[in-house]
Amino acid sequence: MLITSLLTSAVALGALSIEARPQLSARNTTSGSVSNATSVTDAAPQLTYDILTGADTDLFLLQFKPNSNPPSLTEKFHWPGVIRNAAYPWISRHPVNHNLFIVANDNHDLGELTSFYLDSQTGNLTTLDRVYSRGSCAHIAVSPDGGHVHIANLYGNNGTGANGAIVPIDVESGKFGSVNVPSNLNFSSYELQPGQLKASQLLRHPHHWAFHPYLPVAYLSDLGADLVRRFHIVSPGQLETLDPIKQRTASGPRRSIIHPSGRAIYTLHEIDSTLSVGSIDVTTPYGNVTLTQEGIDILPGGANHSANVFQGSEIQLSVDGRFLYAASRNNTAPPKGSMNSDPISIFSVSDNGTYIERISVVNSGAWYLRYFGLDNPYFDQSVREGQFVIAAGQYSNDTHIFKRDVINGNLTQVASFNSTQLGASSYVWI
Ligand SMILES: *[C@@H]1O[C@H](CO)[C@@H](O)[C@H](O)[C@H]1NC(C)=O
Ligand SMILES: *[C@@H]1O[C@H](CO)[C@@H](O)[C@H](O)[C@H]1NC(C)=O
Ligand SMILES: *[C@@H]1O[C@H](CO)[C@@H](O)[C@H](O)[C@H]1NC(C)=O
Ligand SMILES: *[C@@H]1O[C@H](CO)[C@@H](O)[C@H](O)[C@H]1NC(C)=O
Ligand SMILES: *[C@@H]1O[C@H](CO)[C@@H](O)[C@H](O)[C@H]1NC(C)=O
Ligand SMILES: *[C@@H]1O[C@H](CO)[C@@H](O)[C@H](O)[C@H]1NC(C)=O
Ligand SMILES: *[C@@H]1O[C@H](CO)[C@@H](O)[C@H](O)[C@H]1NC(C)=O
Ligand SMILES: *[C@@H]1O[C@H](CO)[C@@H](O)[C@H](O)[C@H]1NC(C)=O
Ligand SMILES: *[C@@H]1O[C@H](CO)[C@@H](O)[C@H](O)[C@H]1NC(C)=O
Ligand SMILES: *[C@@H]1O[C@H](CO)[C@@H](O)[C@H](O)[C@H]1NC(C)=O
Ligand SMILES: *[C@@H]1O[C@H](CO)[C@@H](O)[C@H](O)[C@H]1NC(C)=O
Ligand SMILES: *[C@@H]1O[C@H](CO)[C@@H](O)[C@H](O)[C@H]1NC(C)=O
Repeated sequence: MLITSLLTSAVALGALSIEARPQLSARNTTSGSVSNATSVTDAAPQLTYDILTGADTDLFLLQFKPNSNPPSLTEKFHWPGVIRNAAYPWISRHPVNHNLFIVANDNHDLGELTSFYLDSQTGNLTTLDRVYSRGSCAHIAVSPDGGHVHIANLYGNNGTGANGAIVPIDVESGKFGSVNVPSNLNFSSYELQPGQLKASQLLRHPHHWAFHPYLPVAYLSDLGADLVRRFHIVSPGQLETLDPIKQRTASGPRRSIIHPSGRAIYTLHEIDSTLSVGSIDVTTPYGNVTLTQEGIDILPGGANHSANVFQGSEIQLSVDGRFLYAASRNNTAPPKGSMNSDPISIFSVSDNGTYIERISVVNSGAWYLRYFGLDNPYFDQSVREGQFVIAAGQYSNDTHIFKRDVINGNLTQVASFNSTQLGASSYVWI
């Protein structure tokens, strides 16, 4: 069973990668088959990966060569000052036009989206358009049809509320239409529930959008309301409210992702650093959800939790749906004088998707790990299998690349890059 799925993925990888990049040879998947300790794949020696990233007002292109000896991670291009209203940029690749990138920047009411054309070979980066997001934009996701950007404005309405917003985007020119805050996404009032945190849950805080892989449903994690909101996509950009998925009080749902089968949803909670799992009934029109697991600690008991809340940061699933990764920021209590090194926890996922179990915790070496990403997150229709994971230390100004063992999910660092200019907040493998 294990071997079958592995062979299938190796064959698919070889077949699909022909036009996009040097073909990868079928990998010898027997444990211990990598005889040279510094060689991290059996792929063609010239294999390179470009990674777009950003910090403050700058964008960067990093280049990763897994087969150089040792594997190298270097800066290929640096574009200073291309993002306005600097804070933590979130970078999204357009799902249809792969040269089109949209960068979201959270900065109170001056949060902004910028669209860019990028040729990663020549370094031609051209600003195409800009639009204010109508709030402090934590995250964006382009709708599967490619025509609309869904915006999660953590704060909005001049500090008195928060909202989800939707803006049309032209797939060819990268030009935005006008930003719409539909009334069912305008969370201007607040109602602190018993047990919620006064500081962070007075207001609603839309934090992350996700789309079901085939049902017409969008999900909006709302950190302030302890809800994962659900919407029926009536037509692209037109949302009708469905029952939300209630999360534990004061857990602070930050991000949700859906299993590639469409049958499970995983939510990472920022405030209490836990995960929840829901079973999606795909026989119902909009995928009714029943939670199957809640309050699963990202870290094992006895780990060196610091006293801080707001730690849970990022969640990713491997393309085969078998491993879930969850990270935490500023988490360890380091010996005095040394830097924090935040953990990435690895969970195995049951075949039906609705049960997860932590199998190990890897020390990332990154301090304030806001973001990490696989080279093929399952929702990215690219050709890769997720052999590598990139992680950012926002305070330690470093980037780490891990080789991912596709059989047991384990991560081992193979390259890193330091730059005081790059305390990165997101990455896109291109
Ligand atoms: C795979 O690697 C193992 C261990 O190095 C070796 O015994 C085996 O012959 C290899 N298989 C193939 C098909 O190359
Ligand atoms: C293995 O490593 C050695 C020294 O570290 C290097 O000279 C050799 O080229 C490497 N072999 C391969 C196949 O990468
Ligand atoms: C860079 O890309 C833009 C947008 O596609 C194009 O108009 C421009 O000619 C390109 N510049 C160069 C030097 O290739
Ligand atoms: C936002 O509030 C400030 C005062 O808190 C006010 O000066 C400003 O005009 C307001 N801006 C908008 C767009 O309402
Ligand atoms: C949201 O609703 C409030 C209260 O009704 C209103 O003042 C505000 O203008 C609305 N915001 C947007 C962006 O439509
Ligand atoms: C699905 O949810 C809807 C709305 O809450 C409800 O009316 C319906 O009975 C549910 N279906 C099932 C099979 O649970
Ligand atoms: C990070 O952790 C340190 C030590 O526990 C704490 O002093 C600091 O406030 C934390 N920073 C954030 C942003 O949570
Ligand atoms: C936890 O932190 C303390 C204080 O820095 C340190 O002495 C100890 O080794 C750490 N324990 C673990 C398991 O990391
Ligand atoms: C899903 O798998 C888990 C673990 O194997 C099992 O406990 C659970 O009953 C399964 N759920 C369904 C609906 O089959
Ligand atoms: C997992 O990777 C770590 C290095 O990150 C290594 O120390 C450990 O032995 C590996 N575990 C397994 C089961 O491969
Ligand atoms: C990055 O900086 C850290 C801490 O100063 C250091 O341990 C590490 O070796 C550096 N890595 C690189 C690739 O320079
Ligand atoms: C990271 O870079 C910033 C400047 O961009 C600097 O203030 C900070 O001290 C650096 N952190 C470390 C650990 O070097």
